[in-house]
Amino acid sequence: MALIPRTIRELAIEGRRTFVRVDFNVPLDHGKVTDRSRIESTLPTIRHAMERGAKVILASHAGRPKGKRNPDYSLEPVGQLLAELLRCEVLLTDDCISEAAGKIVGDLRDGQIALLENLRFHPGEEKNDDAFARALAKLCDVYVNDAFGAAHRAHASVAALPRLVRERGIGLLMEREIQALEKLRTTSVHPFVAVIGGAKVSDKLGVLEALVDRVDALLIGGAMANTFLAAQGFSMGKSLVETEKLPLARSLMQRAKDRGVKLLVPVDLVVAKSLDASEGRVVGTNLVPDDSLALDIGPKTVAAYRHEILPAKALFWNGPLGLFEHKAFAEGTLGIARAGADCAGFTVVGGGDSVAAVNQAGLAERYDHVSTGGGASLEFLEGRQMPGIEAVKP
Ligand code: 3PG
Repeated sequence: MALIPRTIRELAIEGRRTFVRVDFNVPLDHGKVTDRSRIESTLPTIRHAMERGAKVILASHAGRPKGKRNPDYSLEPVGQLLAELLRCEVLLTDDCISEAAGKIVGDLRDGQIALLENLRFHPGEEKNDDAFARALAKLCDVYVNDAFGAAHRAHASVAALPRLVRERGIGLLMEREIQALEKLRTTSVHPFVAVIGGAKVSDKLGVLEALVDRVDALLIGGAMANTFLAAQGFSMGKSLVETEKLPLARSLMQRAKDRGVKLLVPVDLVVAKSLDASEGRVVGTNLVPDDSLALDIGPKTVAAYRHEILPAKALFWNGPLGLFEHKAFAEGTLGIARAGADCAGFTVVGGGDSVAAVNQAGLAERYDHVSTGGGASLEFLEGRQMPGIEAVKP
């Protein structure tokens, strides 16, 4: 990266109103945070700011409330959890740019924390609206972006706002993310193995195209593997197949072949008659019944992928290998989580479900880096410019 942004360590935050853009877009179930890893990952930055006596203003989006106030997307449960984790008061504002929010922020003592209500309750956030960014800028003297998960979004609090604040930089989480993903993006070690899962080829196209030129093996799983299998002529029953992407899958397979890259697709699958089936059965890839759909990779595929993963010197994994949220179809994803943990190379995992699998299996510590970014980590590896990083450069 040509110009590295300054980190919070180098910014003059003592006694100053410090706006920290975080990604607290976390899964909620009946008002309870079900995966707190994104919040925990941001604690070092928040603690750093508190210890140096900054007046800390945390701001995040949550969900996609489409520019309207919606209590289902309130950051209140996040504020409560944060207060427990930090063992201090977290003042939640009623709105991010209201007069009341301005008053709370204005009254902050050094080291105290305010959490602004969901930025996406205002349409200006996603529109990268200048007036909205100016309203946020009035709240602060220093801007810190620690929201790696949202760094690929050109939204007001990520892109327009930092350009209005002279003293700006990144947080400690963002720094760790950039270092780990940059190391992977520029790695010259071999074998470099990538495991890409998830529902659609179309969502992962950019990264597949970028990786096929760089890795030694590309292991495909999740529903998008169906499209690759269909492109090879297998009959996929009722499985999700992106018919319009078949030519693209074929051209990726050809490109891999031309470059001597192993592009592996499942050799067996776990199939069931419907998405809500309580169990599935393992079949060879050539034996998917017409009335069934593929919901996970099978044990032979897990073993074959593990065989590629273990000797890897660099590993990147993004996306579930099956319908991970259903216990009956989680084994493939968990098997890959274990293989990644057992790999002695430089290992990076990113994306909601893959990270959830790693956490669920208690394996996070055994990865070199667990990225808080899903789409963001993919765009970074593709080598695309990230609005959230560009805007905080000096
Ligand atoms: C994420 O969860 O990937 C980030 O928080 C970005 O959310 P978005 O996809 O709704 O912009």
